[in-house]
Amino acid sequence: MRRFAVLLALTSSHAIVACGPAPETQDEAQAPTRADSVAMAMQAFDEAVFDTIAWESDEARSERGRLVFNISCSKCHGLHGGGDGGFVTQGDTLRPPSFLQSGWRFAETPMDLRRYIFSGSVAGMPYWGLVGLKYRDIDAVAYFIETPLRAGISAP
Ligand code: HEC
Repeated sequence: MRRFAVLLALTSSHAIVACGPAPETQDEAQAPTRADSVAMAMQAFDEAVFDTIAWESDEARSERGRLVFNISCSKCHGLHGGGDGGFVTQGDTLRPPSFLQSGWRFAETPMDLRRYIFSGSVAGMPYWGLVGLKYRDIDAVAYFIETPLRAGISAP
């Protein structure tokens, strides 16, 4: 329902822009900024959806997560989540934080991890919930990071 409202808002704002007088710097006026997209994703996120996701086994969940991670995450985060994927953008190599630190910010907060993956950040983390990852795959990849990537890493 919430999602629908966001979509509706998007569609109608487009319609208004399309019918109104053309602003001088049309591209700038229309292009949503990265911060807008992150904010929109934060709003669309619905944690109740995770209650409806069932996995036949932990292995199936982890294997799906590994696949998603290898394809969608490792180029920036590295194959083992160390932050060493080496992805180059705008002349810079991204250096995301390692997932393997003992006091990692999401170590104790699984839902916050899923929300973050869904919403991204203004500093270069894609807002996956808006650009193609389903809740099921967000759950799988979060689980893959929690177990097995972080297996054996204890709290400080
Ligand atoms: C285009 C590069 C890129 C890709 C692809 C990418 N990320 Fe990120 N990610 C980043 C950057 C850059 C940051 C740091 C952002 C910041 O500091 O706000 C980040 C941060 C994170 C964090 C927070 C880490 C922390 O300790 O603060 C998590 C969790 C995360 N990404 C998960 C994922 C997952 C899961 C995927 C795949 C579905 C993914 N990322 C794909 C660039 C990427």
